[in-house]
Amino acid sequence: MKRHLLEAADLDRDDATLVLDTAAQIDQALAGREVKKLPTLRGRTVVNLFYEDSTRTRISFELAAKRLSADVINFSAKGSSVSKGESLKDTALTLEAMGADGVVVRHSASGAPHRLAHWVRGSVVNAGDGTHEHPTQALLDAYTIRQRLGRLDGVRVTIVGDVLHSRVARSNVGLLHTLGAQVTLVAPPTLLPVGVGSWPAEVGYDLDAALPKSDVVMMLRVQAERMNASFFPSAREYSRRYGLDARRMAALPDEAIVMHPGPMNRGMEIAAEVADSVRSTIVEQVANGVSTRMAVLYLLLGGSPQ
Ligand code: NCD
Repeated sequence: MKRHLLEAADLDRDDATLVLDTAAQIDQALAGREVKKLPTLRGRTVVNLFYEDSTRTRISFELAAKRLSADVINFSAKGSSVSKGESLKDTALTLEAMGADGVVVRHSASGAPHRLAHWVRGSVVNAGDGTHEHPTQALLDAYTIRQRLGRLDGVRVTIVGDVLHSRVARSNVGLLHTLGAQVTLVAPPTLLPVGVGSWPAEVGYDLDAALPKSDVVMMLRVQAERMNASFFPSAREYSRRYGLDARRMAALPDEAIVMHPGPMNRGMEIAAEVADSVRSTIVEQVANGVSTRMAVLYLLLGGSPQ
């Protein structure tokens, strides 16, 4: 494994499989235990550095580090010296001086975790940078697919919606490809990034045509906060063409599953009855996020102290 986890491409097939297998072992070790804690990272310090809003990912990383018995410091830009204009570099040097072994960072600027990795001695884990990457989300998604379908190799995954603004889509395309899955992106042309043709994925515009050929359909949130222009005529029109409702879900093969990284816009990209259906893995994804992140922290920080 590399020292940092900045993007899906940092993991080759063996590394990615090792993370998933380790997460499975952790799940097994903790299942049925009253005290859901392992002593593995006792004495290590993990700093969660969140410059951008987050619910699931922040809580998930915090819980993951605590369940490994690390000391955890949660730092959010609001209420810190960042709001006084302190630069990322100065913040990094402060963390360095305090001896952080691992830094988990979410930032609105694509590439911020890469910069940080140059300034600190500990391992940097990207928890989402701008529209770039979110590798631990891709790992927990791969873990969830493998858990539900029993394999990743050859699995047909259709990722639907706002690909343009989605770091989840970018990381998933890379990691799923590494793990042997076949990825198709379905989106309105305005919500596909320039250069998508060079990604290891098929591209289509017709959701109804893609669904019968999907083992997994992953719905993306329409990221209104990152849109400074009108990318589609109206919310109603978007949902009519690209939303997953019960009628569309019925076109999926019998065993197929429905995923969403959250937060959802219920009624927009996904209907409530789909989100709450038995095909939906949305709640499992959240639970699997903790074990997958424990596996990442364990593999990156678990070695002997330097
Ligand atoms: C995603 C994110 O922040 O990139 N959410 C998450 O981490 N669970 C997706 C999103 O915001 O739509």
